[in-house]
Amino acid sequence: MCGIVGYIGCKQAYPILLKGLKRLEYRGYDSSGIALIDNDTKIFKKQGKVAELEKFASNANTEGTIGMGHTRWATHGEPNDLNAHPHTSQKGKFVLIHNGIIENYSKLRTRLESEDYVFKSETDTEVLVNLIEYIYLKGDISAEMAVRIALSRVIGAYGLVIACTDEPGQLIAARKSSPIVIGVGENEYYIASDATPIIEYTQSVIYLNNDDVAILTKDSITLKNVKNEALIPKIQKLNLNIGAIEKNGYDHFMLKEINEQPKAINDTFRGRISTNLDDVRLGGLVKVMPRILEAKRIIIIGCGTSWHAGIVGEYLIESIARVPVDVEYGSEFRYRNPIINKDDVVIAISQSGETADTLAAINLAKEAGALVLGICNVIGSSIPRETDAGVYTHAGPEIGVASTKAFTAQVTVITMFALMLGFRKGVLSQEKYSALIKELIDIPDKIEEVLKSNDYIKEISAKFSQAENALYLGRGYLFPVALEGALKLKEISYIHAEGYPAAEMKHGPIALIDENMPVFVMAIQDSSYEKIVSNIQEVKSRKGKVIAIVTKGENAIKQIADYVIEVPEVIEQLSPLLTVVPLQLLSYHIAVMRNCDVDQPRNLAKSVTVE
Ligand code: G6P
Repeated sequence: MCGIVGYIGCKQAYPILLKGLKRLEYRGYDSSGIALIDNDTKIFKKQGKVAELEKFASNANTEGTIGMGHTRWATHGEPNDLNAHPHTSQKGKFVLIHNGIIENYSKLRTRLESEDYVFKSETDTEVLVNLIEYIYLKGDISAEMAVRIALSRVIGAYGLVIACTDEPGQLIAARKSSPIVIGVGENEYYIASDATPIIEYTQSVIYLNNDDVAILTKDSITLKNVKNEALIPKIQKLNLNIGAIEKNGYDHFMLKEINEQPKAINDTFRGRISTNLDDVRLGGLVKVMPRILEAKRIIIIGCGTSWHAGIVGEYLIESIARVPVDVEYGSEFRYRNPIINKDDVVIAISQSGETADTLAAINLAKEAGALVLGICNVIGSSIPRETDAGVYTHAGPEIGVASTKAFTAQVTVITMFALMLGFRKGVLSQEKYSALIKELIDIPDKIEEVLKSNDYIKEISAKFSQAENALYLGRGYLFPVALEGALKLKEISYIHAEGYPAAEMKHGPIALIDENMPVFVMAIQDSSYEKIVSNIQEVKSRKGKVIAIVTKGENAIKQIADYVIEVPEVIEQLSPLLTVVPLQLLSYHIAVMRNCDVDQPRNLAKSVTVE
């Protein structure tokens, strides 16, 4: 949460920072701000999206070759101009942008107030910038030393960029639990929360580790840790192209990302399925395979959509590999004193690889001695670096806040994992294993088929765009899809929606059904087909409107449902990958019809780096 960007070099910084903020806006859009720090310091801050800042600064002098920018997801203090970053210290010596939370800010603030510091904002960040200044002035030390001393006194998480007006021509970046990547150019450096603002300028990057501090001039980088121990910067090459982070003619990133799912899944398969389709090999897990095979239990951890992918994983692993699985929200797991054994395997699923609660749960599992694996999309993010081993989903950058292609790519990886585990454990015969792999590799083409129904799905969406509530029902593998469908609708159209196991409807939600209630039912021809047909009857008897996702050619449900959306025939283990797609499209069109901000829904952020 919160996006930060910095530049030091010979180019004009303002356009680079502004563009960078637009790329990072998915991380928060409550306010934004830019500071240009050359001979003098110019700061522009505005409540609202980056476009507001751009308007605000349109006639201002934005000259300068060193600067920093921030787009905020509010934690301490409401979204307004005053609480927007960058923050300056009381005597104007330091300028700071910050992503994360300083947990002991209140104590530090009281201490600084007793030293005559007066605060303009309600933020924890202003406390930090004043703490740095206080230490700097008191100790008569370098800015970098003051920063390190201050950071050793704060509790919490930070990714930050700092400039000191007494030491022009320098930026300092630091990280603890909130990501920072530095782009290395010719006589210039870029700083950002992720690589997207950097890739059009350079593919050479340095990822900061926890407790790292980087001191940058336009021609040099000095890397150390907060304890002042020198470190050698490790330059890595990115392999991202700019097209992956642009809309490419689509109205919204979400629509582009929904349409990219066949490619995302094929990219996730690449190099992992043998050419004769009889084996899955997940390279990242090879070394830890003996421990995985010995696991008495698998615990899957995730938040939001990734947690839904985890439930699909639970159903698959238990049924295909016969290993007990628990699925946990990171936020619950970490605080409920869970039992974790050394022979447990913990799998953290995360698109961003930065979700604070998932990361904290990983640390807990590591301390308990479990093997910890990651399934993540963002290469080089914190979770892949903190886990023992893992598998990347190769969905490419996902920018729309509502997750779509990342979900299907996560489900793809967890499916491959379940198949491989089942086979290696001797639970799944070679014949069955090969048959399932063949079904799996057909999925991208089947999703293409589903995507062709877009216009029809749009027509159905129009009928329900004014709904106030919605219910999503599914059984077995399609229960998590019902949860995901409801989440998509809530997130981007602000319609209240609930996902339920279809049979549980009778234990409560059925009371909500009347002629105004759309009920989206996953009703493909699987082992619970007859049961779901009965559930549809129950909804219809109470005048609910049924929109059913059915197998192509199906007739019985067509007779009773108000609308049906067909998907190609698919085995039930793989049905989540197909049935979620119409639900994504329905939510998308409904949100557009309601004039909602599809890619940046209110109050949400894509990367949740606060607890
Ligand atoms: C946020 C995003 C969701 C995402 C969740 C977990 O809420 O808006 O789309 O599912 O975080 O994020 P992760 O990056 O860990 O998958």
